[in-house]
Amino acid sequence: MKKADVVVAGCRQIVTCGGGAPKRKEALGSVGVIENGWLASEAGRIVFAGTEAAFRAEVRLSEDGTWIDGRGLVALPGFVDAHTHLPFAGDRAEEFSLRLQGWTYQQLAEKGLGIKTTVAATRRSTPAELTALCLERLDRMLLHGTTTAEAKSGYGLNLADEIKQLEAVRAAGRVHPVELVATFMGAHDVPPEYLSKKEDYIDLLVHEIMPEIRRRNLARFFDIFCEEGVYSLAETERLVQAAGAAGFGIKIHADEFVPLGGTELAVAVGAVSAEHLIAVTESGIRALAGSGTVAVLLPGVPFFLRLGTKAPARRLIEAGAIVALATDFNPGTSMTESMLFILQLGVFSHGMSIEEALNAATINGACALRLQDDVGSLEIGKKMDVVLCDMPSYEHLAYHLGINPVKHVIKGGRLVVQDGRPVRLPIAP
Ligand code: NIG
Ligand code: FE
Repeated sequence: MKKADVVVAGCRQIVTCGGGAPKRKEALGSVGVIENGWLASEAGRIVFAGTEAAFRAEVRLSEDGTWIDGRGLVALPGFVDAHTHLPFAGDRAEEFSLRLQGWTYQQLAEKGLGIKTTVAATRRSTPAELTALCLERLDRMLLHGTTTAEAKSGYGLNLADEIKQLEAVRAAGRVHPVELVATFMGAHDVPPEYLSKKEDYIDLLVHEIMPEIRRRNLARFFDIFCEEGVYSLAETERLVQAAGAAGFGIKIHADEFVPLGGTELAVAVGAVSAEHLIAVTESGIRALAGSGTVAVLLPGVPFFLRLGTKAPARRLIEAGAIVALATDFNPGTSMTESMLFILQLGVFSHGMSIEEALNAATINGACALRLQDDVGSLEIGKKMDVVLCDMPSYEHLAYHLGINPVKHVIKGGRLVVQDGRPVRLPIAP
């Protein structure tokens, strides 16, 4: 008999998202469902997923173990949100109103609004304020079913403030159940004090900021905004080469508005992911097709900016690219912590099936963080990261809109949301 310290008994369905990672083409359309399923874990890792009969034959719950009633609930892997700009201060509600009056995101950026507004607010914030903001947002993520999230810096744009952002991520990650993966994005924009001398800032990034972030081990990935008016393709190439040499995994904000070739570059340098892709070209799609670089689509952005264009999700899937979905949670272009909402946009505005969107929001998101061996599916050996939703079947994730069906969340075998509320844990002094 296998020993278990947590059991989730009698779920209406278990959606495993298992069967191999990454998922491409037809595999992306299949989620793997166990009807009337039971799940068990020991020391935070899944030891069983199957039927009641098999459970009774194979697994024994230890005496002080936790029994969770899954009746009436659908179990899913915790969402993996592979792209967020979590540690920022302030908001951009004012600029949002201007956009609703017809200003475009790029016009506002040219007026000195946009990212620069958030840079100013973030630079003014104290470390404690920034950590508290991260924690509030992580609560919202968790309540909507996210158990793993990436978090980028990039609103500091100088050594001290980039470190401040990444330390806020680290501090929040130490006390919050959502598992965080940090990305250094000092190349999110050109800092206002370097507008006329971008080369000097690039030198600073390469020679001072990057090595210091590495030395402090504050981030696993490096990301850059390769975009007209921000970093050119040649600048991006120089920066990602330096970041790779310094030991960062590479991510690129590529082909968001103007196709500069960031996607092709991402594939050429073996980047972990190319993200956005609203303006990706045929050659970008071809490059992604057979590659291991994950196409992280962020449907919140074209929706929030009312662009009328969007990433060609279907063409990417059909070409064989690894497609993931993420929030891009940030105050300017996608103010949402909810992967559920993003999954729905994947379905309604990007033509994905519910199964494709679910795999994209879980196992393929895990691939975009190189965490596919640990999270993203409910399979033996993986972390017990489970979302239990109160709904008749998993199709209701996209069918029933504007509500939050998440009832319980388990992270690493610990019940962290119960009846829709965070379970507060005593924090060690
Ligand atoms: O992913 N594209 C650049 N960065 C963010 C927007 C950040 C902001 O507007 O504050 C994005 O869309
Ligand atoms: Fe982003």
